[in-house]
Amino acid sequence: MTVRTIRHFAGPCGLQKPPLPFEPYTAETLWDDDHISRHMLAHHLDTDSEPASRPHGFIERSARWISDRFALDSGRRVADLGCGPGLYATRFAASGAAVTGVDFSRRSIAFARQSASEQGLAIDFVRADYLDSPLDPGYDLVTLVYCDLCALGPDRRRQLLRSCRDLLTDDGSLLLDVFSLQAFAGRQESASHGYRFMDGFWAPGAYWCFTSTHMYDPEHVVLDRYTIVEPRRIRRVYNWLQYFSRESLTAEFADCGLRVEEWYGNVAGADFDEEGDVMAVVARRA
Ligand SMILES: C[S@@+](CC[C@H](N)C(=O)[O-])C[C@H]1O[C@@H](n2cnc3c(N)ncnc32)[C@H](O)[C@@H]1O
Repeated sequence: MTVRTIRHFAGPCGLQKPPLPFEPYTAETLWDDDHISRHMLAHHLDTDSEPASRPHGFIERSARWISDRFALDSGRRVADLGCGPGLYATRFAASGAAVTGVDFSRRSIAFARQSASEQGLAIDFVRADYLDSPLDPGYDLVTLVYCDLCALGPDRRRQLLRSCRDLLTDDGSLLLDVFSLQAFAGRQESASHGYRFMDGFWAPGAYWCFTSTHMYDPEHVVLDRYTIVEPRRIRRVYNWLQYFSRESLTAEFADCGLRVEEWYGNVAGADFDEEGDVMAVVARRA
């Protein structure tokens, strides 16, 4: 795999200099800013769009596989971390599980509560940062779906994985997916800009957005950086992604007291594929 790194390319006056991997953490702006979260929710609910949740056809298959694989119909306790507007949580509850959903997006949690109530489903939706360990232990299954682990730096990943382990019953399972090195090889550095870039996604009024993608090798990290310039405000959003090999993921889990027991090609139970962009794992307490 050949990847060109521009870690030390600073551009004119250092303006383009990328930060150290995972140094600024702006996930809350991306998911909980009042304006941006409105667009994110629209993406979650669009049946075919991919930026926030996977296409709903996949979610349907995936939730069915998870329900069967973990026998959720027998009232198992499930914690869905980063549940968004509850697309998985409502399906788990409909199949008989006792579900808690955690997300720090006010707008997503409000939607999830409303949607569960309309469907007559009793789900505990908690608005919290999952890095703050907001739940008590005792879950048969903890899910973290759509490669959320990849958005965190090593310290936050360790914090989250340890708190997932602590949530599990003795024979409970953690299910999550991550991007693979194959997906990293498919990324490219780039830069672009535009007026009201992404159709007004980043701010309600006039703005320019300057975006650049930076690759960090050998860390296997990619940064998509967005600089949003409004008349009275300049903001930067850093979208980090860590890409994993089987070995690196296994080692991180072991360091957090977790043993990977099953490998899949996705969270819908596809066979593991060495060439695939995504890997999904089932882990238990070591
Ligand atoms: C890529 S979306 C996936 C949503 C959902 N799992 C799905 O597949 O439909 C990531 C979700 O995680 C939430 N999230 C990201 N970081 C979080 C954190 N530190 N604490 C709580 N929620 C977080 C976001 O608000 C967003 O709803």
